[in-house]
Formats: sequence, C-alpha cells, structure tokens
Amino acid sequence: MIDTAPQYAPRADAPGPPVRSPWPHRVAWLLVLCTVIGTVGLGATVTTLGAGMAFLDWPTSGGENMLAYNFFNDIKVGRTDKVLEHVHRLAGATTGLLAIALVASLWISEPRRWVRWLGVTVLGMVIVQGLAGGLRVTEISTTLAMLHGHFGACVVAAMFACVLVTSRAWADSPRGLRSSGVTTTTWLTGATLAALLLQYALGGVVRHFGGALFEHLGGAVLVGLLAAAAGGAALATGERFLRWNAAAVLGVLGGQIVLGMLAWATRFGVAAVGTVAVQHSPLQIVSRGGHTVFAMLLLSALVCQFLRARRLASDPPVRETAAPLPARSSVSSVPVNRLPTASGALR
Ligand code: HEM
Repeated sequence: MIDTAPQYAPRADAPGPPVRSPWPHRVAWLLVLCTVIGTVGLGATVTTLGAGMAFLDWPTSGGENMLAYNFFNDIKVGRTDKVLEHVHRLAGATTGLLAIALVASLWISEPRRWVRWLGVTVLGMVIVQGLAGGLRVTEISTTLAMLHGHFGACVVAAMFACVLVTSRAWADSPRGLRSSGVTTTTWLTGATLAALLLQYALGGVVRHFGGALFEHLGGAVLVGLLAAAAGGAALATGERFLRWNAAAVLGVLGGQIVLGMLAWATRFGVAAVGTVAVQHSPLQIVSRGGHTVFAMLLLSALVCQFLRARRLASDPPVRETAAPLPARSSVSSVPVNRLPTASGALR
C-alpha cells in the first residue's frame, strides 16, 4: 500500500512560526472603543441636536487653540451645543493619536506587510475624516456633514477589520473550506454590503435633509432581508469562526430596525397612533444617535463576516518551516512525488 500523505520534518535551521505581539490587537480594540463610544457617539448627538455649527471656526474653537479652549465656561452658562461639539473635536483628536499608535505598534511588531499597510490606511482615513469634519464647518456645508457621517462608517469598519486580522482567532482559523455554505455566505454578505451602502446614502438624506423617508423604508426591507439571509447562511455553515460574527449581524440588525422605528416616531411623529414628535427629547436623542451608531456597527459586522468567509475559503499557507520528505512506500522505493505518470514522465 502506498502512503500518500505528505510528510514534513522541521528543518534544523527553520525559524519556527512567527510569534505575534498582542499589542496591535489591543491598540486596535482601544481605537475602536474610543472611536465608537466617544467620537461617533458624540458626533451623532451633535448632529441630532443641530450643534455642528456651534463654533464657526476650525481647527480653532471660538478663535482659541482647540487643546487650550476652556469649555468649563460653556458648561457654567449652559451652552450644551458648544460643550458637545468641543468634546467631539477632542475625541476626534484622541482617535487620531490612537490611530498613530496603531500604526506604530503594527510597524514595530506585525510581520504581515498587508496588515501594516491596513493600519496606515486606517490612519489616512482618520485624517481625511477629520478634514471633512473641519471643512463642513468652514464651508457651512450640510452635504459635507452627511459625507462626514458616511465616511465615518467606512473608517469604523476599517478599524474593526484591523481588530479582526490581528486577532488570535484569525491566525488560528481553518482554511481551504470551499463548501457551498461558505460560498453562499460570501456572496450574500457582499450583496448585503452593496445594498447597505445605498441604504446608508438614503438614511443620510433622511437625517440631514428630512427627505427620502419612504425610499429609506423600502431600503430597510431589502437590507433587512439580505442581512438576515447572510447571517442565517453564516450560522448554517456551523463554522465556529463565523458563528459569533453572524450572531452580531442578526442582533445589530434587529436593534437597528427598532431604533429606526423609534427615530421615525420621535422625529416625525406617527399620526395614526397619535404620537407627537418632541424635538430634542431624551428618547429622540438616544434613538436617532443609536440608529446612526448601529448602522456603523452593522456595516462593520458585515465587513468582518465577509472577511471571515473569504478567509475560510482561502488557500492554507505553504509551510515555510518544514521541508517535504519523500513519502514512504511499502511497495516501491520510488518517492510518491516522483512516481511515473501514465505517460512515463515523473510528477
Ligand atoms: C437595515 C435597516 C436600516 C439601516 C441600515 C438604516 C440606516 C440608516 C442610516 C445610515 C441613517 C443615517 C444616519 C446618519 O447619517 O447619521 C438612517 C437614518 C434614519 N433612518 Fe434608518 N436604517 C434602517 C432602517 C430604518 C427603519 C426600519 C426606519 C423606520 C421605520 C428608519 C428610519 C430612519 C430615520 C427616521 C432616520 C433619520 C434619523 C435622524 O434624523 O436622526 N431606518 N438610517
């Protein structure tokens, strides 16, 4: 009987698998948390309260250096709009510093070149995002404010991608799984992402211009069905590597729909059930801001699910630390990888 299993033996001079530092992953998590809870959460509240133009200048705040600006005076006199906008700017600066820290930690300890460049891309996106926010003020542009929100979602999704590809789970994930379940998950998740970007644009029009309400509602049905199918397909693969991500997609989707209905009811009122919109009520602030944040989380969860499915289907790496040995054969001394083919040639 011929033993055809590939046989490997470590080479004496083999360097062994690269030991990865946990720091890039930790810094990426810190960056995501600071950005979503701080910068994005505050930014969403600023937009909901219409406080984006609390200062007419940028990068200075009220003519002063942003870092030296004393917003305690604004707290004393109850200028909530200035306090929120100023803290949003400070949170944005912190996001920038953490993005620099991410790049530094990746370039110091990350062996994969493409991951190091992903970090640089995130930093570049953060800079563009900051510039868009500043120009929105100096140009007094609502369209730029909307684009600032949309691009912010892409920045957050890229940050989550950094968290994923620097994780232990990513390094240990199975590879080479080209089952129909994984392929279906990849396609459905890709299609959902395309529909979600369109829905994002429609949502921005609702939020900033008060239009496209019913188009956005139609988009919600399409995105809801696609995201449910993508999450369901991922769960049905039974792959551990996809399971939690799929649960996140489905959970965030459910939350997003509930928050969307609340945002609608609290902003426009629902005549049929006698609900009247109360501008800047706590429920309105939470539901409108939450709907913006959950949209970013849905985009991020889908991007991560797409990357995970692609990872599962990708080719396993060629083992560099092992040298193939000739396979043993009980009937022949010819190594299996040198057996004659039907045509007589060796393979
Ligand atoms: C999968 C489903 C949904 C997604 C992905 C989604 C996404 C979005 C996005 C990205 C925004 C704009 C946020 C911003 O620019 O900051 C938005 C705004 C909005 N969406 Fe949705 N949405 C969904 C479902 C719904 C549903 C079901 C409703 C209502 C029934 C709804 C009602 C609204 C309203 C009223 C706004 C404006 C909120 C505001 O003025 O602050 N959405 N949506």
